[in-house]
Amino acid sequence: MQINYNLKTASERRTEQFEPKENVGFGNLRTDHMFLMDYRDGEWRDPRIVPYGPFEIAPGAIALHYGQSVFEGAKAFKHDDDEIYTFRLNKNAERLNRSADIICIPALDESMQLEAINALIDVDRLWFPMQEDACLYIRPFIFATEDRLSVSPSEEYTFCVILSPSGPYYSDGFDKAIRLLISERFHRAVPGGTGASKAAGNYAASLKAGRAAAEYGAAQVLYLDANNKQIEEVGAMNHFHVLKDGTVIIPTFTDTILKSITSESILELGDVLGCVVRQETVMLDKFIADIESGEIIEAGGFGTAAVVSPVGSYIFEDNRIVTVGDGHVGKHTRRIYQVLTDIQKGKVEGPQGWMQLV
Ligand code: PLP
Ligand code: COI
Repeated sequence: MQINYNLKTASERRTEQFEPKENVGFGNLRTDHMFLMDYRDGEWRDPRIVPYGPFEIAPGAIALHYGQSVFEGAKAFKHDDDEIYTFRLNKNAERLNRSADIICIPALDESMQLEAINALIDVDRLWFPMQEDACLYIRPFIFATEDRLSVSPSEEYTFCVILSPSGPYYSDGFDKAIRLLISERFHRAVPGGTGASKAAGNYAASLKAGRAAAEYGAAQVLYLDANNKQIEEVGAMNHFHVLKDGTVIIPTFTDTILKSITSESILELGDVLGCVVRQETVMLDKFIADIESGEIIEAGGFGTAAVVSPVGSYIFEDNRIVTVGDGHVGKHTRRIYQVLTDIQKGKVEGPQGWMQLV
């Protein structure tokens, strides 16, 4: 792919590695540039890297009215050799196309996506934040740009990639276990719907639930299936729990659960972790009873942004609280976090091909 570079002038760009004075948080900052490519007349065209800045978009653009928009979230890490490596980016490229297909967006060649992201990181590599648990968070997205108010798939799209120098998603980091609200009022997805895609609308639909969670002192909602019987996932991560023999259980992927690349990675790392990791349908009643009987000793979430987030307790809408184990980060969760982040940071070698040099 021939990328056209229209970069900020040398004097406007970073000239030194970014060494933030304070924790940069998650998703707050941007780098100097973004990648753009358009879909018109039935093909993706005009790949370019340009200064980060506002788009021109028609007020009648389909994405703005009908939410035809999908995104991805991936991370790049700096290793001791001072080089930047992406984590399983090919899986994100694959999933962007799966998400796109679910809402009728045309596919974008996966090797083209990878090339685009690598080129952008290369241009903005000095933005990698030198702080603890840092990454460059990679946000590719596609949105419908055709200016038309009838409801059918757009004929025109933009693919964009932006980068965010980031730290942990939850401000308290890994060491403080979070609380989740178990709600029967809010549902993220229904069978036959868009739950398995990273469609923008799924996240709009989670905002009110997120607000309700905050009112209960919870970080997010743990979503149940539409019949309020099974545990599905959390708004920005999959859910897991650990049995007292160390077995890790992740709810089986369905069309109402996003197939998390972090969960898939933990499933593949079972041997390295020294425990069984498997998927099954998780019934809410049994889950709660097993926590109360001590059969379940730890729980948490898996996600790119969230990494491994320990859950210390659940709260129901009647204010009943169920504490997992002693409510603190357990040793299995800690080990999973350590193994995954050691691979990502290049401290230990992970499975072939997981980390790719930019
Ligand atoms: N589930 C939802 C709804 C998400 O938004 C995310 C984040 O991407 C995940 C799960 C975790 O997926 P991954 O590990 O691929 O980031
Ligand atoms: C990610 O983990 O990359 C996500 O996309 C979650 C996001 C909603 C913050």
